[in-house]
Amino acid sequence: MSNPILSLSAQLRQETWSQHQSLEATEFSRRLLAQTLPIHAYTAQLQAYAPIHAHLEALCAASEHPMVQAVWRDNLRKTLFIQEDLDFFGLSPRPDFPPATPRILDWLQKTSQAYPEGLLGALYVLEGATLGARILHPKVCAMYGLTQAGCAYYGAYRHQTPDHWIAFKARLDKAVVKPGEVTQVIGAARDFFTYIGELFAHVPI
Ligand code: HEM
Repeated sequence: MSNPILSLSAQLRQETWSQHQSLEATEFSRRLLAQTLPIHAYTAQLQAYAPIHAHLEALCAASEHPMVQAVWRDNLRKTLFIQEDLDFFGLSPRPDFPPATPRILDWLQKTSQAYPEGLLGALYVLEGATLGARILHPKVCAMYGLTQAGCAYYGAYRHQTPDHWIAFKARLDKAVVKPGEVTQVIGAARDFFTYIGELFAHVPI
């Protein structure tokens, strides 16, 4: 699967873009873009995402794997933003959100033990999502009449999003170069995209 001519980040984009297109085509995404998503669906996604971000961030921060350490930075944390939003709505994280969140938490745990560099595939997917969030953030704010509280996660890096993304990809491309490891990270990103698709499909709209 790995292509020695292309950087890891370029391969990740190439190998997962069709999955991204499928996510964009879900009812959840279409209604978010059209500003017709019921607020209960919006908050359900935040509840389902909160434990996933928290677990991924904790695993990356505690990892002793050199590739994970080379890529992870504390400024990638987004749990605080989601928690701020959930607090605003008076809601709690849903680690039981069926069936996707428990599966993702289990997958993250197993990946961190079996091949920790796979965590970088999940990180790629959730970091990349900040690019789309730039388009979605003003729509979310307008749709639900929010300013900061309630839409902090979608606003995460704000104007710093492109810089975050460029720096993240640069660390990724420098840290992961061996073909076997590149293949593992791409496979993990594909698995993670599949799980997120499953999560989107089960958000009640
Ligand atoms: C309505 C929903 C979404 C829209 C409109 C959207 C839009 C975008 C846009 C405009 C980009 C930048 C594309 C480019 O550089 O050419 C992007 C990149 C990306 N998005 Fe989304 N997105 C959505 C949902 C998601 C979701 C739910 C995820 C994952 C949880 C995701 C993951 C990514 C990733 C990983 C990239 C980086 C691709 C690369 O490597 O360049 N997106 N998205």
